[in-house]
Amino acid sequence: MKVLVLGNGGREHALVWKLRQSSRVSKLYCAPGNGGIAENAECLAVDLKNLDSIMALGRQVRPDLTLVGPELPLTLGVVDEFTRCGWPAFGPTKAAAQLEWSKSFAKEFLQRHRIPTAPYAICDSVEEVRAALAHFHAPVVVKADGLAAGKGVVIAASKEEVASVAAEMFSGKMVGEAGARVVLEECLTGDELSFLVLSDGERVVPLVAAQDHKRIGDGDTGSNTGGMGAYSTADIVDDKMRDWLVSHIATPVVAGMKAEGTEYKGVLYCGLMMTARGPMVLEFNCRFGDPETQPILMRLESDLVDGLEASIEGRLSEGDFKWSRDASVCVVMASGGYPGTFEVGKKIAGLEEADGTEGVKVFHAGTTKRDGSFYTAGGRVLGVSARAAELETAIERAYAACEKIRFDGAHYRKDIAARALKK
Ligand code: AMP
Ligand code: GLY
Repeated sequence: MKVLVLGNGGREHALVWKLRQSSRVSKLYCAPGNGGIAENAECLAVDLKNLDSIMALGRQVRPDLTLVGPELPLTLGVVDEFTRCGWPAFGPTKAAAQLEWSKSFAKEFLQRHRIPTAPYAICDSVEEVRAALAHFHAPVVVKADGLAAGKGVVIAASKEEVASVAAEMFSGKMVGEAGARVVLEECLTGDELSFLVLSDGERVVPLVAAQDHKRIGDGDTGSNTGGMGAYSTADIVDDKMRDWLVSHIATPVVAGMKAEGTEYKGVLYCGLMMTARGPMVLEFNCRFGDPETQPILMRLESDLVDGLEASIEGRLSEGDFKWSRDASVCVVMASGGYPGTFEVGKKIAGLEEADGTEGVKVFHAGTTKRDGSFYTAGGRVLGVSARAAELETAIERAYAACEKIRFDGAHYRKDIAARALKK
């Protein structure tokens, strides 16, 4: 079958790498892809911000299966349109993807269905924010309602700061249209967990859990990023917790969406805070996580195509997924200056040496290939990933591989998965 993957990051490289292993895939395309992805798939040009451009690509490829990496094409309705054209596509419709593109929708949905989440208020003006603040204690989390590429959440230390951050969001200067509405939320504490499930509109099958490292600095310090690394082990959540998360969070979400007439198919990424009062939903994403997908797929032993097809066709079952009990780790190597401004076009050395070591796979997030060499082309450049029976070994392998790779300004966190070792 002809398979098309949309996207150009480390997540998409991992998806393409996994799809390449499927005996069912005869032709694999990725659009737009990147330097590393081009080694595993034919890369085609596309503007993922433009539905017409994606439709033109669809007519060119006529894919038997399409897998959408980032949220934007989903929120433009690419699954709706591809399905209408008879091209099976994995993921939620535009209406169902509202769980990600509107935080106010997600919060009201959670409340309607009594799914645990932090107390909140939805505000359309600074006056409404000031009035709502009477019900909160600082710190307060201020969130832009719409998609803001990770820049729409601020934890404000004082009520004054809440008002000024909200004013900045409303003004459009901070995150544009996404800040026209603002959600205030009680600030929760605990460990964060990325709990991803697949849904076929009715049934839910959990993927193995993963933990992301969102801050730029070791020990979870400094600015937020797209994710500086992630790991997955068999014991991040035990079976009992996993069943609880399925029955109290993922299944009620999928059942609630169906009951409201917006059946949810695809990946449901539940961003959770494991608080002393129990797990609570921080956010939903309607797609695979980046970089969580890299360690998750390193542990998948069955054919990814089977699971994706079962989701589209409404016949998902636990048996579609076989997981290794090994641990996996992904360390993100970033450009100097990231998550602020950074330069691109730096030559990357040592890739072959690193990729050749036991248990290691280097996923490309922001690279391009010219004259046989790879160059940096983004903030997050590589996801250096490793798998091993023991977590310690996986960590050692990933960091040994990082040390073999060099480019100007390269930096990475030194403590990915360290908290799992402490436990
Ligand atoms: P979100 O996009 O809603 O997941 O928010 C991005 C990040 O902000 C999360 O991964 C958390 O680290 C943090 N965050 C969001 N909501 C809360 C909350 N209610 N309490 C504490 N931290 C939060
Ligand atoms: N790693 C966070 C995300 O994919 O949104």
